Order: sequence, then structure tokens, then C-alpha cells
Amino acid sequence: MSEVSRSSEVFVTVEGISRRFVPHVSLGDRIAAALGSPLEQRAVRAVEDVSLSVRRGEVLGLVGESGSGKSTLGRMICGILVPSAGLVRIDGESVMSGGRRPRKTTTRVQMIFQDPYASLDPRMRIGDTIAEGPIAHGLVSKADSLAYVQHWLRRVGLDPDAAPRYPHQFSGGQRQRIAIARALAMKPDVLVCDEPVASLDVSIQAQILNLFLALRQELSLTMLFISHHLGVVRHVSDRVAIMYLGRIVEIGTADAVYTDPQHPYTQALLASVPQLVLEDDKMVSFKPIPGELPSPMAPPPGCHFHLRCTFAQARCRVEPPVLRPAGAQAAACHFAGELQFTR
Ligand SMILES: Nc1ncnc2c1ncn2[C@@H]1O[C@H](COP(=O)(O)OP(=O)(O)OP(=O)(O)O)[C@@H](O)[C@H]1O
Ligand SMILES: [Mg+2]
Repeated sequence: MSEVSRSSEVFVTVEGISRRFVPHVSLGDRIAAALGSPLEQRAVRAVEDVSLSVRRGEVLGLVGESGSGKSTLGRMICGILVPSAGLVRIDGESVMSGGRRPRKTTTRVQMIFQDPYASLDPRMRIGDTIAEGPIAHGLVSKADSLAYVQHWLRRVGLDPDAAPRYPHQFSGGQRQRIAIARALAMKPDVLVCDEPVASLDVSIQAQILNLFLALRQELSLTMLFISHHLGVVRHVSDRVAIMYLGRIVEIGTADAVYTDPQHPYTQALLASVPQLVLEDDKMVSFKPIPGELPSPMAPPPGCHFHLRCTFAQARCRVEPPVLRPAGAQAAACHFAGELQFTR
């Protein structure tokens, strides 16, 4: 990645953020609670005590298996989901105020979702969809809004005359470009992209990723880029954070994390990427991570990964590891830096 637009200034700070989802309490649940099954144990611990920072102009990639808490973390950074604990600051200011998303946060942070069709109103002309937010927030007058929309359509590689058309008249890749134009028209400082290319076919994915990279450079955007696809994340990110069951287990520069993983989960995740390797004289395509992701309602004590970790020892079963320097990055493993991985 280019060094040009990155700054050493910390811009986004996530401080000890957690989010629990407590299921609706039915009468049966109340009776179960009265009989000794505490309700608290049934809460989903989607994100647990996550702290991280992103520098101005930096792209932080966020990777992890399905259900690891990536979207929940992204939505809290955006201020559209209230944390159960902790704080998110952008340029020193909290994205939440009294449990609400202040007007400033709405323009400052924008989110792009996986499915552009679901995130665009099918009954609205795309020009109106793009102009709606900027007009409401006083970024452009109604009179100037068509020229404004055309400017952003051009910036994302679409025909500026397409403003009167409806979402169904576009392909999947074009619809994602519309969603990007709508987000950028709000002149955000921070973009949270949640699996923005996962629903597109491979050739279109590359075009949209390149669009992200070009816009990020031109507009000095700070980005959180969420994906379960390790290759995609490496392509776009300066730094990468690996999530497992609600916690960050490793964070560092993309080069360090991909070439010299320090956490057994990162190593297993990298080894699980489909590729042809020779093992015992047989060609195997990938090494799946052993075991299943435990339930986020009852994550294992100690290190959440210990049930699937080939290096786990007694300490891992009781003591949660903290993120600490290991190699050129940081890893939450009691034995980080001491383990020899075979690849
Ligand atoms: N609104 C909600 N109510 C209850 N549980 C939720 C809610 N949103 C998320 N969860 C749970 O929180 C956990 C983390 O979900 P999240 O969507 O953040 O994961 P993810 O890493 O984004 O997964 P994916 O890769 O599938 O998108 C999951 O167990 C999920 O079922
Ligand atoms: Mg998700």
C-alpha cells in the first residue's frame, strides 16, 4: 500500500467495546430463570472488550469466521448500534451521545453493506437516493443536487445521466457503485465497508476493490474493511485485525500478519485458504480448522480458541490471553512468539 495518504495521527479509537445481544425473555424463560437457569448466560457475546485504533487515511482490514462479531463491531464504529460497554471516538469525539447517534456522526461515518440491492430503496430513483442525505444535512441545496449527484456518479464510474433510473435497471456491480456514491456524497471521513464485494462475481469484485483503493487515495478516507476473504483483505489493507468469537486475537501490518502469523488461529485461518499442497503424497486442497466455532452464548473460558488449538496448554483453559507484542504485530496468545508453525 502507498504511504502517501497515511498519517501517524490516530483518528478512530475503539476503547474496550463490548456488545451482548440478550434474547427476548418469554414466560418460559422467566420460569427457567426462577428454577435456576440464569438469563444472563443466554446472551450472545458478539463483541468482547475490543480496543483498537485506526490512523487517518489508513485501511484496517477485519477478518474472522462467520459469527465472530465483525459486523457488530463495524456497526458500533458507525454509531448505528449501541455498545453494551466501551466507547468509539472519531477524531476525539464519541460517535454516540446519550445512546443516540449525533447528527455529526451521521455524516462523518458511512457504512457500505454486502447486498447493494437490499440497501437501496427499489422505489426511489438512484439520483434521489444519492441526494437525500446530502440535502437533509445541508451539504447541497435542492437546486444544485442534480449536478452534485452527477458528480458522484461520475466519480464511481457510472453514467451521470443515469440519475433518473431505478436500482433494478443496474447490474450488481453497478448497484454497489451507486451505494458507494451515496455513501461518499455524505463527505464522510470514515467508511465502514462490510463485505462490500462478497455478493459480486470475481471479475466485478476486482473492479470494485480497485475503485475503493482509488477513492480512498483521492479522498483521504479512513476505512474499516470487513471481509471473511483473506486475499481481498490483504489486497486493500494497511493493517489487519483477526477476530475470533468476539475478540481481536491478532493485529498488525498486513505483511506481518500474513507472512509471520503469531496466533495459532491466524495460522490456521491462513492454512485453511484453498490451495493445492502435497501432503503424504496426496494433493489436498486446504487444511480446515479443526472443530467447530463454539457458541457465542457460551464461549469457552480462558482463551476462546483453546478447544481448537493444537498448542493449547492448561493455562489456556483458564486465563484469557491479552493482546501483547509478538513479532512485528500484537497477538492474544500466551505462547505467541514461541510457537513453531508448519505451513
Ligand atoms: N441483532 C442481533 N440479535 C441477536 N444476536 C445477534 C444480532 N446481531 C448479531 N448477533 C449475533 O452476534 C454474533 C456476531 O454476529 P456478527 O453478525 O457480528 O458476525 P460476523 O462476523 O459479521 O458474521 P458474518 O461473517 O456471518 O457476517 C453472532 O452469533 C450473531 O448471531
Ligand atoms: Mg457480518
